[in-house]
Amino acid sequence: MLKNDIFLRAARGEKTERPPVWLMRQAGRILPQYRALRASLSGFKELVETPELACEVTIQPIDELGVDAAIIFSDILVIPEAMGLPYEMIPGKGPLFPKTLTSEADVDQLIEGEAAAADLNYVYDALKLTKKELNGRVPLIGFAGAPFTIFCYMFEGQGSKTFSKAKKVMYQNPVLAHKVLDKITTSTIAYLKQQVIAGADLIQVFDSWAGVLTPRDFRTFALPYMKRISDAIQDVPVTLFAKGAWHSLQEIAATNCNVVGLGWTQTPKDVRALLGAEQVVQGNLDPCALYADAKTIQTTTETMLCDYGGHHIANLGHGVYPDTPLDNVKVFVDTVKAFSYASLKTV
Ligand code: CP3
Repeated sequence: MLKNDIFLRAARGEKTERPPVWLMRQAGRILPQYRALRASLSGFKELVETPELACEVTIQPIDELGVDAAIIFSDILVIPEAMGLPYEMIPGKGPLFPKTLTSEADVDQLIEGEAAAADLNYVYDALKLTKKELNGRVPLIGFAGAPFTIFCYMFEGQGSKTFSKAKKVMYQNPVLAHKVLDKITTSTIAYLKQQVIAGADLIQVFDSWAGVLTPRDFRTFALPYMKRISDAIQDVPVTLFAKGAWHSLQEIAATNCNVVGLGWTQTPKDVRALLGAEQVVQGNLDPCALYADAKTIQTTTETMLCDYGGHHIANLGHGVYPDTPLDNVKVFVDTVKAFSYASLKTV
């Protein structure tokens, strides 16, 4: 039994007394407790692969910020690793894949589906343990990267401004691109089903690099695979977050997903005009808005809440930046928690 289920009620489309609130990347470097623990370890992967430690950092923002949901501490890159391309996390730089996909033979060698998901027991163990330790305080979010974003890492081997190596494959060999996307999709579905069995209360799919695609390519190489994932996850609500795919919001909403995640480049007015008042949306304050002074953060946040006017999960338009002052994050969370839709009606 959940003591605080406002996040799940909102995700399912129920009316809530206020919007629920959590932040993408809340389990991370904004928290001094995280930084201290992280500094005592061999690296990021030790944290991800040790269920007791992953559980500890998942719960830190619940204690420290009082957010309405926990997100399991892991990374989207565990899937390419389970498929046969291990990642390294280089401090100050980010992810690096020593081996990338360079030929059809590489693609044929990828492990896929349940065989890939079977390699990720440490994630399922972390979910089970966290669920137990949360003891019903808040729901627990499971997640995975969307196939297109994982595809980018598999060909690029790291982040990129243009993702031109990955996009080159789409333009030169679309059949091969679809073959890879299909393998990532079968693996991700098997992985997310296991996460639900292990206790995830909602699944969020992150298409972080969707914004580098043209609308047409997004609908060809990204959306159909996200749709397959949201169709396959039946037992819990699903959030699809395709950052930068502002051009395809209606297409995203038309999938089986419950919640449409929003980047910060859309206004609530435009979103509501496209999706209507009833579609549950999540977002979308600019992460940089949290660098402002407390009064400004409060006003910007309240304006956003009023403008969405319900069926809204308060969050940022992307992960919180590590150098955001913790007090400012607290102003954001506290502003949402003090808000009431009842007061909105009388304004
Ligand atoms: O609080 C949470 O959101 C849960 C944990 C979480 C992490 N990564 C931990 C992490 C989640 C949901 C992710 C998802 C993720 N990982 C995405 C999708 C969301 C997004 O931000 O677009 C992506 C693209 C990745 C890949 C990734 N992992 C990058 C590009 C980096 C380096 C950049 C950075 O933030 O440092 C990571 C590392 C990473 N993943 C860190 C954390 C807390 C920082 C590493 C550290 O502590 O040393």
